[in-house]
Amino acid sequence: MQTRDLTPVIGTEISGIDVSALEDADFARIRQAWLDRCLIVIRDQHLTPEQLCDFSRRFGELEPPPASEARKRDEEAAEMWVISNVVENGKPIGALGSGEAEWHTDMSYIPAPPSASVLYGREVVTDGGNTWFGNMYVALEELPADLRDAIAGRQVNHDSTYTSAGDLRKGMSEVVDVTRAPGARHQIIRKHPVTGRDALYLGRRTNGWVVGLDVEASDRLLDDLWAWCTQDRFTYAHTWSPDDLLVWDNRSTIHRRESFDASARRVMWRCQVRDEIAA
Ligand SMILES: [Fe+2]
Repeated sequence: MQTRDLTPVIGTEISGIDVSALEDADFARIRQAWLDRCLIVIRDQHLTPEQLCDFSRRFGELEPPPASEARKRDEEAAEMWVISNVVENGKPIGALGSGEAEWHTDMSYIPAPPSASVLYGREVVTDGGNTWFGNMYVALEELPADLRDAIAGRQVNHDSTYTSAGDLRKGMSEVVDVTRAPGARHQIIRKHPVTGRDALYLGRRTNGWVVGLDVEASDRLLDDLWAWCTQDRFTYAHTWSPDDLLVWDNRSTIHRRESFDASARRVMWRCQVRDEIAA
C-alpha cells in the first residue's frame, strides 16, 4: 500500500490495494489515515454494490439512504444509493442532478449525523463535477479571535428542508423564518467523538441560524464563518478518475460539488456510516 498526501492540509491518496480483500492491519492504516487526514482517496477499485457495502461497513454500521434521496436502491445492496444526473425511461436513476451542490456536511440536520461518507466513482465527468473538501479542524484552529469569541458556547440550527442541490425535500415546505426551521441543533465548536479534537461544525449555509441571535446578526456571523472556512488554503478539489473510492470524515470536513454538463453521464455509488455516538 502506498500513501501520498494530496495537500498539506487535507487528504491522503492510497494506492496499491484492493479494498475487497483487505487484511485487518491494512484496514487499520486506512482508518487512521481517514481520521488523521479527514479524506482518503483510494484509486483503482473494482467493486460490486455488495463489496462497496462490505468495505463501508468496516467503518461502522451502515445507515440507509435518507428517504428524499432513495430514488433507486439496488435490491442486493439496499444500504447503497446512487448519486447521478442520468435519466432512464423518464426517471432519474439517482440523486442531486448535475447542478452545484453547496458546501455542506452530510445530514447535519439530524441529531447524530454520519461518521463516514463513502463515494465511489463509476462514471465520471472530466469537465466540472469536481468535489471539494475542507478541513474544519484547521479552519477552527486558525479562526480569528473575534470570530472564535462570537461562537463560543453557541449552537447552530441545521435546517432539513433542502438538499445540498437546493431542492425541497419530499413532504417539506419552504422556510420563511429560519428561527423555526426544522432540523437539529449542534454546537458550532464540536468535539470529534474519536479524535477528541475540536472542529468547526456549520452544516450548510442555507437557512442556518445561530441559536439565540437575531436573524440579521446570525446571518452576518454565518457569512463571516463560511467565508473563512471555504478559503482555498483549507481545501482540496478532487478531480475524479473512474474507479476512485473516496471516504471522508463527516465530522471534521465540509464538501461541495461543482456543476457539470447536464448531457454528460455521471454515476456514483454512495454509502454512509452511522456515528458511534448514535449507536
Ligand atoms: Fe454531501
